[in-house]
Amino acid sequence: MTYEMIITETHGSVAQITLNRPRALNALCDQLMTELAAALRAADADPAIGAIILTGSPRAFAAGADIKEMQDKTYPDTALDDFIGRNWEVVTTIRKPVIAAVAGYALGGGCELAMMCDMIIAADTAQFGQPEINLGVIPGAGGTQRLTRAIGKSKAMDMILTGRMMDATEAERAGLVSRIIPAADLLTEAHKIAGTIAALSPVAVTIAKRSVNRAFETTLAEGIAYERATFLALFGTPHQREGMTAFIEKRKPDFA
Ligand code: HXC
Repeated sequence: MTYEMIITETHGSVAQITLNRPRALNALCDQLMTELAAALRAADADPAIGAIILTGSPRAFAAGADIKEMQDKTYPDTALDDFIGRNWEVVTTIRKPVIAAVAGYALGGGCELAMMCDMIIAADTAQFGQPEINLGVIPGAGGTQRLTRAIGKSKAMDMILTGRMMDATEAERAGLVSRIIPAADLLTEAHKIAGTIAALSPVAVTIAKRSVNRAFETTLAEGIAYERATFLALFGTPHQREGMTAFIEKRKPDFA
């Protein structure tokens, strides 16, 4: 597939996908989301790739779903087309870790897209928000659920009911983002994190991601049972022997 609205590149074992519709502040139209879903699936299927970075432009990660494209939609259109389930949900099905590297606006669907990733690192220029209420609608790609789980009910209500934006400092304090990076260093830092993950045992990384995600889908007891079973199962992999032996032999493990 040739891409017009995203740029894909590979750096060693890290895939980088850049949303590239800067004049529309990377508004997430159907074509862009179709391309993104295809690129994510391709990176996930490539055995040479161990982690994926999703980023935007300096001014905007993404300013939301494309309002111009949605303006004339009717309920039957949206119900039959299922434009959210078709492409957006793909992000949550990717097996490999996906790091959102956010600079500038991450609004509406842009914030929701970042929250579908496994972690968000933010440039000091980042602005997060769910302004859909100003358009007479509400978040539609998980915002009311994922934002509430990330930052708690009171702050999520504040953001979603007023439509206000939150800067990087507030987002880090609230637990929405894992780190704040000076804007000029955002991608370098994202690649350092992704490179670290990509050098680890792919099976341990996959299981760790799945286990953390269980925390959002099940009870504490079930989640802990899943963690225990998968932890024990990892003793069936050569990477457990290599990781523990390397520690004892005071050398770096080789998970290749
Ligand atoms: C379509 C958009 C857009 C969007 C910006 N643009 N956001 N086009 N959909 N979500 C376009 C503008 O129309 C404009 O195009 C160009 O990008 C630059 O934007 P400006 O508004 O001129 O820039 P600025 O004044 O700097 O303001 C930046 C902004 C503002 C604060 C981010 O653009 C804004 O409020 N955007 C909308 C944010 C929003 O409401 N997002 C939620 C969308 S609903 P032209 O052609 O005029 O130059 C949503 C629901 C998701 O996301 C549900 C799941 C599918």
